[in-house]
Formats: sequence, structure tokens, C-alpha cells
Amino acid sequence: MTEAILLVGGKGTRLRPLTVNTPKPMVPAAGVPFLEHLLARARAAGVDHIVFATSYLAEVFEPHFGDGSDMGLHLEYVTETTPLGTGGAIRHVADRLRSGPDEPVLIFNGDILSGLDLTSLLDAHRAAGADVTLHLTRVEDPRAFGLVPTDARGRVLAFLEKPERPEDIVTDQINAGCYVFNRSVIDRIPAGRVVSVERETFPGLLAEGAHLLGVVDDTYWLDLGTPAAFVRGSADLVLGRAPSPVVPGQGREYLVHDRAEVAADAKLSGGTSVGAGARIAGGARVDGSIVLAGAVVGPEAVVRDSVIGSRAVIGPRTVVDDSVVGDGATVGADNELRGGVRVWCDTTLPDLALRFSADT
Ligand code: GTP
Repeated sequence: MTEAILLVGGKGTRLRPLTVNTPKPMVPAAGVPFLEHLLARARAAGVDHIVFATSYLAEVFEPHFGDGSDMGLHLEYVTETTPLGTGGAIRHVADRLRSGPDEPVLIFNGDILSGLDLTSLLDAHRAAGADVTLHLTRVEDPRAFGLVPTDARGRVLAFLEKPERPEDIVTDQINAGCYVFNRSVIDRIPAGRVVSVERETFPGLLAEGAHLLGVVDDTYWLDLGTPAAFVRGSADLVLGRAPSPVVPGQGREYLVHDRAEVAADAKLSGGTSVGAGARIAGGARVDGSIVLAGAVVGPEAVVRDSVIGSRAVIGPRTVVDDSVVGDGATVGADNELRGGVRVWCDTTLPDLALRFSADT
């Protein structure tokens, strides 16, 4: 059996206002808090003990997951009083680990949706005798990412900053946010201060001559850090494009909670999920979106590639496209929200307040 650390203490600023009341890993994707997908994958790979490294809104995790026994897991929660960054958070939970110095510990960023085979990542780590193994993924446009070139046997050669010139793009491999650390490497991270594993620990290990292995995996991978990525990931889970042991069926057009109400002539599509107590009124169309618990989508409203926060209300004929409406917000009738608009929690937008079209 293997143990794991879950990094779930980030503020999730890019996902605001969804993360005003809910930490990013607890925002529902395909009908359940995102972490449920990750925990189920870890369990399926033989992980039995998981330590949550929490900070921002730390108090919400334990009431939801408890000791994990109903999932066949043993869960523990450790909270930083001030955020210690990714490396500091890993070090901060080290005394909860039971592994010996040479045993591997899995580490997950709490906001990555992937199809990576965790067992083969652990096998590759052991076979290579690495100190740290990183999951790497290939991206079409590497300009927005730090790059991780490797040699023919997978040994990491460098950690490069975001490339500024075309000639700096020496690889399309990036850090995918899932690692295997030997326990002894965790114990050597400095304690009690902010440490970034990406900017400090990994480059430092490389400079010391440590063996860092990169495992490139080309299955599904998505960083759910932005609203657009979050809705895409949720829809892909519903549609069956992204794997998860906790999504029912092999892929569906939409997922509706038993306690949600959807009018007979409303149209749901594109991997939409509708949470408990939500209502979708007659003639409404919801495509590729997340409608959270208790939200209301009014008659003939159109919601596309967007998140409607819990208890939010979307007025009749209003269009919400590629946007986020925060928890408890009310958007009146005949508005048009497009192109990355973020309506903050508990605000009210009157009828006909915001339009892109000149006609009404
Ligand atoms: P943004 O503010 O939108 O960048 O999101 P974030 O705060 O989640 O940061 P980022 O996506 O870089 O974090 C990657 C992972 O590390 C996420 O799962 C975070 O929850 C986690 N994380 C980031 N900083 C900390 C920290 O200081 N403490 C702990 N415990 N986890 C952290």
C-alpha cells in the first residue's frame, strides 16, 4: 500500500468567485466535489493513507470526507496557519507519514484532472531508483508553462522558466502536478517557511545531482485552475472523455441530481451537470455548463460553457456564455453575459442591465 499527500491549500484566485466560499478542490465537477474524482483514482491505484495539506478554507474538508473509511481510505488533515507554498505544505505534513526513508510517497496538486496510470508512475519511479519522479504532459502551446526537458531515459535535464523566445521552446513537456517523492527527500525540505516545490525544491535537487525522473503520459490532462478549464473538465467527466471511477455510466450528454427539477422542454447538452435542488425552467438551454445546488435557470435562458453558482438565479431569456455567476447572485431578465464575465457572489444585476446586442 502507498500513502499520498494532497495539496489543497491554495486560494484558487483564478477561479474566483467560485472559490470565495469553496476551496477550489471542493468545487463540484460532474456533480461531486472535484476531489472525489482524485481520491477515487488514488484508491483504485492502491493508495490507502492520504494526508490533506490544507490552508485556505481548511475547515470544509474534514466535515465532508471524515476519516475516509467509507471510501476505504485513511484520511488525515493538517492545516498551515499561514500558507507555506507547495513545498512548505509538503514538509509541514511530513510527521504524519508512515513510510520509511526510501519508500515512495505520491503527491497531488488538488486541481488536476488526469488519466495518468498512478501504478505505472510508481513502478517507473522504483525501476529507475529515482529520488523524485514527476508526471509530465505534452502541450500544444508551451509558451504559458515552465518546461521540463528530459534525456532519452527520462532523466530531467532542467527546469526552464516560461519560454520568451521561440528558440527557448526546447520541449513541449510540462510539469503535470503529480509527483512521487522518496520520503527522505520530503524530510529534507526546509521546515517552517514558504517553499515552492516548482521554483525551489526541484531546481535545488537537480543542482545537487539528485535523480529526477520525468514520466511523459499522453492520456487526458487538464489543470482546472481557470473557470473555462473547470467547466471543460466537468463536461469531459460527464461526457466520458475524462476518466473517473465516481461518474456514473460510460459517458452521457448531461447529469442531473435526483433532487433537481428540469422542465420537460428545457434542453441540456454538452456534459452539463445540474446539482441538488437546482431548477431549469421551460425553454431554457444549458450546454457544457455546471449548474450548482439550488440555482435557478429561468425560462428561455441560455447558459453555455459557464458555471452558475449555488442558489444563483438567472432571469428569463438571459444569456450566460463563457462566464461565471457567483453563489447567491441574481441576474435579472434579458441580460447577456459573455466572454469571461465574473458576477460576484450575492450581487444583483437588474433586468436588461448588461447587453452586447443593440436590439432587445
Ligand atoms: P491560483 O491562486 O488561482 O493560482 O490557485 P492556487 O492557489 O490553487 O495555486 P496553484 O494552482 O498554483 O496550486 C497548485 C496546488 O497547490 C493546488 O492544489 C493548491 O491548492 C495547492 N497549494 C498552493 N499553494 C499552497 C499552500 O500554500 N499551501 C497548501 N497546503 N497548498 C497549496
